[in-house]
Amino acid sequence: MFRGAVPLIDEMKPIKTILSLFAVALTVSAMAQSNEMKVRMNKVGAEIQPTMYGIFIEDINFAADGGLYAELVKNRSFEFPNNPLQGWNVGGRLEVLADGPFERNPHYVRLYYPGHPHKHTGIENNGFFGIGLKQGEQYRFSVWARIPDGDAAGRLSVELINTASMDEGQAHSTAQITVGSKEWKQYEVVMTSAVTDSEATLRIFLDSPVTVDIEHVSLFPVDTWNGHKNGLRKDLAQALYDLKPGLFRFPGGCIVEGTDLETRYNWKNTVGPVENRPLNENRWQHTFRHRYYPDYFQSYGLGFYEYFLLSEEIGAEPLPIISCGLACQFQNDTPDAHVPVCELDSYIQDALDLIEFANGDVNSEWGKLRAEMGHPAPFNLKFIGIGNEQWGPEYPERLEPFIKAIRAKYPEIKIVGSSGPNSEGDQFDYLWPEMKKLGADLVDEHFYRPESWFLAQGARYDNYDRKGPKVFAGEYACHGAGKKWNHFEASLLEAAFMTTIERNADIVHMATYAPLFAHVEGWQWRPDLIWFDNLRSMKSCSWYVQKLYTQYKGTNVLTLTDMSGANVTGAEGQNGLFASSVYDSVTNQVYVKIINTSDEIQPVKVSFDGLKKNEALKGVAAVSYHSDDLDADNTLDEPEKIVPKTSDLNFEGKVLEVNVAPKTFMVYVLQK
Ligand code: AHR
Repeated sequence: MFRGAVPLIDEMKPIKTILSLFAVALTVSAMAQSNEMKVRMNKVGAEIQPTMYGIFIEDINFAADGGLYAELVKNRSFEFPNNPLQGWNVGGRLEVLADGPFERNPHYVRLYYPGHPHKHTGIENNGFFGIGLKQGEQYRFSVWARIPDGDAAGRLSVELINTASMDEGQAHSTAQITVGSKEWKQYEVVMTSAVTDSEATLRIFLDSPVTVDIEHVSLFPVDTWNGHKNGLRKDLAQALYDLKPGLFRFPGGCIVEGTDLETRYNWKNTVGPVENRPLNENRWQHTFRHRYYPDYFQSYGLGFYEYFLLSEEIGAEPLPIISCGLACQFQNDTPDAHVPVCELDSYIQDALDLIEFANGDVNSEWGKLRAEMGHPAPFNLKFIGIGNEQWGPEYPERLEPFIKAIRAKYPEIKIVGSSGPNSEGDQFDYLWPEMKKLGADLVDEHFYRPESWFLAQGARYDNYDRKGPKVFAGEYACHGAGKKWNHFEASLLEAAFMTTIERNADIVHMATYAPLFAHVEGWQWRPDLIWFDNLRSMKSCSWYVQKLYTQYKGTNVLTLTDMSGANVTGAEGQNGLFASSVYDSVTNQVYVKIINTSDEIQPVKVSFDGLKKNEALKGVAAVSYHSDDLDADNTLDEPEKIVPKTSDLNFEGKVLEVNVAPKTFMVYVLQK
């Protein structure tokens, strides 16, 4: 019998021995009185929006460069500002020049003959915490190159090396490139890795006495998500697809705002040929001194076109967020850090142009670029967020002109505003009415909060204003007090909290856990939904909680209460139980979610009221999510240590009686 749901009395058939009957009787008598709930079956409630459970990506924790974006070379364009050779080891004779073929990435490296036949000019890149290679897999090396003198051809040797190897040679995979043109050209070669190595190095030797210039040096796995050339890391994109998110919010987060305006995320710099997308500082390079990564930049190889495409491919509505002219307010407290309201025109134009880029006709300026990049059909953008985590009067006064301009040109686009960085308090209380006044369609709320907060928020949305904007729970995660790492109990409390999201689907239209990804060697912020190293990835317990909500999303809310008519929100007297229920009109099934956050087994009796006399529900499955070790999570070594378990639900009738194990998330699937 599965842990978590122990059928009682009438579904407990067959009970084979008197002994087991006695044991069950004992257990029941030792337990608290049954928790009675009822689900109203004769009226389906609010529609659950397709966008309800989504994902939120930000290039934090090396989520994009070094993560989802499968480029294996760091500083491929020699543009890191303090040192164009940062990330590279160099030897022999070479120099960095700045009149290259890509005006927005002008630097390149000139490799000279070292002046002696027994010397070498070579350059090595260690990637992001090493380069991850898998034995037998193909990797596409490419480089823009020329022979500046234009006489005899130059030659490059490309090697994948293992510097820790005890073999005579460190190179296990090699290729040669002949550079025969005075003009800049891209050269490409596919190499097969002879070994699996999570921390390999790419080495390039100049192999001729002829000078060769190199620029935009790149190495990608050939096997990427959906086979897109030089695209996304397959396992990480697959983990997003597997979640079946209904919404994809990008590109952040604070990087939208930038530490200063100059380094804000500028979407226009992220489209067009990758070679000419200018490098941007990553704001997370600076945010935490205790986890400082001076080599954290945004190549923008994963830009807005790629984000839109990924949204489409994982079946999620895109939700781009753009700067409202406020630099990060945590990091700037002087007004001159921000764009004055009267100078917002170019920012507003960026918003309008973005909508044109996503949806515009192929003959429009930005629609044309989208088509040239490979997607003539519109991306069918429906939502846009203006500003990330803004607060104070400086936000509404900037948001207002954006709303006016977008409404005038694109009245069908829904606009997401912000309620600031806190889940309650002065800023929050100030901004919600402001958002209502301005007519924002949705308001983004953020809460990274401890266990006590999550336990107390089971009824959060039950009494929200139904006449105002809809809610977007845009960033949330349970940050355990003194336990700020991913662990099962935190995910259990997220599951408990999500019952208030589900129950209030008439007003909550979107919710995204945050952040999404973290590299085990390069994180700045945790917990996160998915962790990875250079070769492997794992889905956290929080991922599985999200998955249970997307899998059993349903189409409409069903009213579930206790017998006094109160929602089951972990309130006093409800024994740490949180519950909600939905109906799925496609499968004609009912999903009942019950989260037992207490330390005791909780007997639960759910009556399905309002069924016709001869109608009954039939058990299909009981899905249980539990870990005996509440502080544990999945790991890269054991990625499926804690996963939901599905069992048959042996039940037919109008009253389901179950025992919900302590610290367990249950989903009961019933056929109507
Ligand atoms: O998700 C990490 C950060 O948390 C986001 O960038 C920001 O919006 C919030 O403060």
